[in-house]
Amino acid sequence: MSEARKILVTSALPYANGSIHLGHMLEYVQTDIWVRFQKLRGNRCIYVCADDAHGSAIMLRAEKEGITPEQLIDNVKAEHSADFAAFLVDFDNFHSTHSDENRELAELIYTRLRDAGHIATRSVTQYFDPEKGMFLADRFIKGTCPKCAAEDQYGDNCEKCGATYEPTELKNPKSAISGATPVLKDSKHFFFKLPDFEAMLKQWTRSGALQDAVANKIAEWLDSGLQEWDISRDAPYFGFEIPGEPGKYFYVWLDAPIGYMASFKNLCARREDLSFDTVWGKDSTAELYHFIGKDIVNFHTLFWPAMLEGSGFRKPTAVNVHGYLTVNGQKMSKSRGTFIKARTYLDHLNPEYLRYYYASKLGRGVDDLDLNLDDFVQKVNSDLVGKVVNIASRCAGFIHKGNGGLLVDTNPEPELWAAFQAAAPSVAEAYETRDFSRAMREIMALADRANAWIADKAPWALNKVEGKQDEVQAICALGVNLFRQLVIMLKPVLPKLAEAAEAFLNVPALRWADLATPLGNHRLNAFTPLMTRIEPAKIDAMTEASKEDLAAQSTGAAAPAGNGELTKEPLAAEINFDAFAAVDLRIALIEKAEFVEGADKLLRLSLDIGDAKRNVFSGIKSAYPDPSKLEGRLTLYVANLAPRKMKFGISEGMVLAAGPGGEEIFLLSPDQGARPGQRVK
Ligand code: 2FM
Ligand code: ZN
Repeated sequence: MSEARKILVTSALPYANGSIHLGHMLEYVQTDIWVRFQKLRGNRCIYVCADDAHGSAIMLRAEKEGITPEQLIDNVKAEHSADFAAFLVDFDNFHSTHSDENRELAELIYTRLRDAGHIATRSVTQYFDPEKGMFLADRFIKGTCPKCAAEDQYGDNCEKCGATYEPTELKNPKSAISGATPVLKDSKHFFFKLPDFEAMLKQWTRSGALQDAVANKIAEWLDSGLQEWDISRDAPYFGFEIPGEPGKYFYVWLDAPIGYMASFKNLCARREDLSFDTVWGKDSTAELYHFIGKDIVNFHTLFWPAMLEGSGFRKPTAVNVHGYLTVNGQKMSKSRGTFIKARTYLDHLNPEYLRYYYASKLGRGVDDLDLNLDDFVQKVNSDLVGKVVNIASRCAGFIHKGNGGLLVDTNPEPELWAAFQAAAPSVAEAYETRDFSRAMREIMALADRANAWIADKAPWALNKVEGKQDEVQAICALGVNLFRQLVIMLKPVLPKLAEAAEAFLNVPALRWADLATPLGNHRLNAFTPLMTRIEPAKIDAMTEASKEDLAAQSTGAAAPAGNGELTKEPLAAEINFDAFAAVDLRIALIEKAEFVEGADKLLRLSLDIGDAKRNVFSGIKSAYPDPSKLEGRLTLYVANLAPRKMKFGISEGMVLAAGPGGEEIFLLSPDQGARPGQRVK
C-alpha cells in the first residue's frame, strides 16, 4: 500500500459576533465531507478551524451588550462549537484567533516581514468620530449619496444607485456609532508591500493551486497592478498590538489566516504524532488546503501566500473556492424565513438530510448552490429513505426470521457485486476532486441497480415457495452486502447513518478498504429504522421559526443596559417629518396576553385600539414569564405596519419596547389617563 498522505485542511474562520447559518454550513459540510473521505481512505488528515475573534465590529457589539469582548467571543465560541458538532462537522481542533499561539505567530510573521523590508509606513487621512474617539471604517459612516442623493448610505457605496465613492465624498456624513459628525484626522499606518511578491504570485496562482475561474479572476487583478495593503488599525481596537508600536493594532484580516496555523499549533501541543514544522516549514511535504467562499478569495490567494512566502513558511497546496448559497432561488431572506440559522434547522430537521442535499449539489466550481426546499424534501426522501435504507429494510427481516440473523456466504449474482467493485474507484476520484454531486449520482445509480435486482428476485414472493428458502437467504445476503457497500461510499456524507448501519451489520467502523471484501457467514444485529422521511410540515415550521427569530430580534432595543449602565446605541439615520408622520402610533390596551404553543420567544397579545381589536405576536416572552401581568396595561402600538403571516397566525402591527433582549425588555407605556386608540403625536 502506498504511504498515507499527510494533509492539513481548514475552513474559513467564522466571525465571533454572530450565529452560524445554513450559508456558512455549506462550506463546513463541504470541507468535512472531504476530510472524512481522506480519513476513511487511511490518510493522515487533520481539520482545524477557529473563531475569527478580532476587529471593531466585535468590540462594538460587546460594548452594546455591556460585556467585554473576551466574554462575547467565549459565548459565541461555545455556540459555534455546539452548532458544528450537531451538524457532525468533526474538527480536530476549533480554536480562536484571540489566543497565545496566534499572538506569537502574528508577531513572528510581522517581524520577519518587517526585517525583510516588506513593511512600509505612511500617514493616512481618515474620518474620525470625535465623540467616540475612534477612526471610522467605511461601514460605520453614513450619509447622503453624492451621486443620487439617497439618504442613509454607507461610506463606500450606495445601495440605491450602486455608486462607489470615498467616504469623504459622502454628503452630510455621520458616525453610525455615535451620530456625531466625523472629522478628518491623520494617523500613521503600516502597509504590507504586496507588490514585492508579484512574480511569485503570478507563478503560484497558475501552478494548479486554484480552480481555473479563480485563477482567471486573480490574473485580472495581477495584471492591473498590486497595491500595498494597509495592515494596521488605531486604538481603540480589539486585536493584537503591533510589536514596538503602541496604540497600533494588526487589522483583523492580518491575523485571521494566521489563525489556521495557530489552531494547528494548539493541537500539536497535545498530539505527539503531529509536528508544526513538518506541516508549515518551507520544505514541507504535507499537503495544505483551505476551503473558502468566493467573497474572500483575494485574502487567501494574494495576501496570504505572500505573507507566508515573505516570512519563510510554506504556501498552500490549493485554495478550494465555493459559491454562495441561495434558498428557493433567492438570496437568503429574513422576512421570507429563508435566513435559517444552524440551530433553527437543528430544532426541526436531521443534519444528515442537509449534508446529503449539499453533497448532491456540490461540484468543483464556484457556482452558487440553491437549496430548493421542495427539491430537498423530494431528494432526501427518494434517495436516502427510498433507495439506500430501503435495501436493508427489505432484506434484514428474512435473514433474521429465516436464518437467525446469519448472513450466508454465497453470491447469487457475481456480476452485480463486480459492478459495485468497478464503480468504487470512480466514486473515490469524484470525492477526491470535490465533485460530490457526481459521487452522489454514481452511488444512487448503484442503489437503483441493487433495488431493481432485489425487486426482480422478489424474495418476499420466493419465501412463500416451498424449498426456495436457501435462495431467499442468498438474495438477501447479497442485498445486505450491497447496502454495506453503499454505506461505506456514503460514510463521508452520512457518518451517523453509517454508525447506525455498523451497529446493525455488527462490524467495527467501516473503512474504504472494506469495499473489497463482502461479509459472509456473519451474524447481524437487529435492524432498526436508519432514517425517516422528511415531513414537509417540518420545513414550514423551520421557516416560520426563522421569521420568529427575526420578530424577536426586532422587538425594542433602544437602550442596551446589560450591565445596568446605559450604553449608547448608534443613532439611526435622520428622517424627515413626513417619514415620521407616516407611522400610525397609537395607544393600545392589552386585553389578553398569553403563551403561544410551540413558540419559544413569542407572546400573543389581544389589543384594543379604540375602534378595533388587533392580534399581535411579540417577541417579549423572555421578559414576561407571567404574561397575565400585562393584561389591562396600556402600551404604544404601530397600527399601520403591514400584517405578517406567521406559523401561529397573522401578526397585525407591533407593540413598542426597549432594551437589549432577554429579561431586559421594557414595554413602553403612556402616562395615566391615556385612552386606547389615541394617536401619538
Ligand atoms: O469572511 C469571514 O467570515 C472571515 N471571518 C473569514 C476569515 S478566514 C481566515 F482567513 F481566517
Ligand atoms: Zn446613490
